Amino acid sequence: MVLPQHLQRIHRPPPRCRRNAPGEYPGTARANCEHVGAHAAATVSSAPRRGTRVPDPTPRMGGTAMTDTFELDISRIRDEARKRIDAGAVTSGNELDIDRLIDLLNQVVATEIVCHLRYSQNAIVASGIDRAQVASEFAEHATEELQHGQRAAERINQLGGTPDMNPATLAERSHTDYVATDPTDLEQMLRENLVAERIVITTYQEIVRWIGDADPTTRRVMESILEEEEEHADDLSDLLGL
Ligand SMILES: [Fe+2]
Ligand SMILES: [Fe+2]
Repeated sequence: MVLPQHLQRIHRPPPRCRRNAPGEYPGTARANCEHVGAHAAATVSSAPRRGTRVPDPTPRMGGTAMTDTFELDISRIRDEARKRIDAGAVTSGNELDIDRLIDLLNQVVATEIVCHLRYSQNAIVASGIDRAQVASEFAEHATEELQHGQRAAERINQLGGTPDMNPATLAERSHTDYVATDPTDLEQMLRENLVAERIVITTYQEIVRWIGDADPTTRRVMESILEEEEEHADDLSDLLGL
């Protein structure tokens, strides 16, 4: 029998807890629950298992509780700093294969020099009705590519390596090609440079991912270069009306 609505409320069973079977009076108060004993037992047995992070209830930094303990082994760090003094800026905290990192950074140096040369040449020879605007953009990019190469070279030096700017091997070490384009075809020039930017965006992203947390300084250098490469690509896309 279906009771009138005002009587249904009176005949509803007392609320129960979430420990009841699914669908049976869900979302109810524990105070009225027949599992009070079980809840108490659960509370007692809720001590953290071995290996579980124990939240620090002390509110810090705007009320957020810190969950990790952090300790510096100053004694070990001091010993290692003194023993490996010949390594300069490279410490045991840098977990990368340094030789591999220097090799990759030298590829970046070569890539940036090739990009600098291509943009510089394009800025000089570009011709046509839109020459002024396009050449100005190429010249600006050429300057920034050279700065990228210098930043990568500085980092190689800090890591104890030698920046390789040997012209004889630049093209083979570069990620991008030095494409000869028709100076009167501004669209082709813009497209070739956009392709080159897209290549370095991809290879630099890969390098940043490979570095990960192992060398924050080199990663920041690469991330800052990567950010400017994406700006270059965006500038070229705008000029092409893409
Ligand atoms: Fe660059
Ligand atoms: Fe670029």
